[in-house]
Amino acid sequence: MSGSNDPQISRRNFLTGVIVAVGAFIGTAISIPALGTIISPVIEPMEKAAAKWFALGSVKSFKVGEPQAKEVKVVRQIGWRKQTTTEKMFILTDDGKNFIAMSDVCTHLGCHVRWLPDKNEFWCPCHNGIFDKHGKNIAGPPPRPLDRYKVKIEKGQLFVYVEG
Ligand code: FES
Repeated sequence: MSGSNDPQISRRNFLTGVIVAVGAFIGTAISIPALGTIISPVIEPMEKAAAKWFALGSVKSFKVGEPQAKEVKVVRQIGWRKQTTTEKMFILTDDGKNFIAMSDVCTHLGCHVRWLPDKNEFWCPCHNGIFDKHGKNIAGPPPRPLDRYKVKIEKGQLFVYVEG
């Protein structure tokens, strides 16, 4: 006569439990990416909604004729979590009225460019890429100018638009 203390049944119950647990683990591992694919159209608009205008200060605070480094902290909603990144950029005005905002990310392989005031150009240390002060690629491997952000002026303040 066998009861619940029968070692054969206990082993069988244990193995069944292990198989169910492994099956559940595999099922979860498969379904999470699939779920992400299904709900990503819902998540993407949430990410885009994070795009916004950032105030960079008075237009009078910018030197004319020389790019000036600025940073903005961007909070992105990626699915259920928030991610904060720092976007670095260079602001240039040639007349104190019209402004451009250039990304500091090299268009070759994504290193960060540096402004060299004595040479009046941006330099990328990774592969010696050179950009002029308006961000135009002039030497080395970068295939295109530095990317630009949209800018606007309101009540004497300069704003930059950063995609979320
Ligand atoms: S990453 Fe800038 S030159 Fe290669």
